[in-house]
Amino acid sequence: MLSNKQKDILKTIDNKIFDMFDKEHTGHDYYHIKRVVDLTARLMPSNDPELYLALLIAYCHDVFDDKLNPSDDIPSDFKVLFKRWNIELGDLEDRVISGVQEIGYKGGFGVKDKSYAASFVSDADLLDAMGAVGIARTFYYAGSKGQHFHDPNLTFEMPDSLESYRQLNRNPIDHFNEKLLLLKDWIVSDKGKIEAEKRHKVLLDFYDNFIDEVK
Ligand code: ADP
Ligand code: NI
Repeated sequence: MLSNKQKDILKTIDNKIFDMFDKEHTGHDYYHIKRVVDLTARLMPSNDPELYLALLIAYCHDVFDDKLNPSDDIPSDFKVLFKRWNIELGDLEDRVISGVQEIGYKGGFGVKDKSYAASFVSDADLLDAMGAVGIARTFYYAGSKGQHFHDPNLTFEMPDSLESYRQLNRNPIDHFNEKLLLLKDWIVSDKGKIEAEKRHKVLLDFYDNFIDEVK
């Protein structure tokens, strides 16, 4: 259960995040963040004492994403931001900041061993990259970066570093092979695994039909 003070702080952060992500058009808009927040709460055991920490991490997880708003010093940039937002997190501030740094698939080169609260946020974030929403976000992201919709002459190689994952010229459908179809095995929570099975089937079905139709 969240205290009234915790609810107030979350509401303030919600408003700030809305302002920050309202104009974001690569698939990380405010409603991506909101889905991750809501899903994090649904994946955690009810009355989990780390719920508040997990929700703070969920709200903040894309603030200094290396694709959107890269930072050379994430901890100090967060501290400045929380001060500017007039938000007092006390002892939790450092745990929020380190939790955020554990989130992100990053081509498979992200942090694998996550702390307890961050593991639920990670599941929620990865689930939002799967299923119908994940498919739509993939093509939306590729369009936002001026990439091809599908060029049959483009060959695909699995990226071998975060740099090549970010820069490689590939078709959006290849993103299924390098990431989306692998995510099911990255999910750690019990409820997350059940949801991942459903969303994985949606991915597979779409993938097979897409390959068939562009043949
Ligand atoms: P990542 O940690 O892989 O960067 P994000 O969750 O930050 O993933 O990416 C945002 C959305 O854009 C996700 O749905 C993700 O799968 C998608 N995306 C990321 N990189 C690519 C890419 N190179 N091509 C197409 N979609 C991508
Ligand atoms: Ni995200």
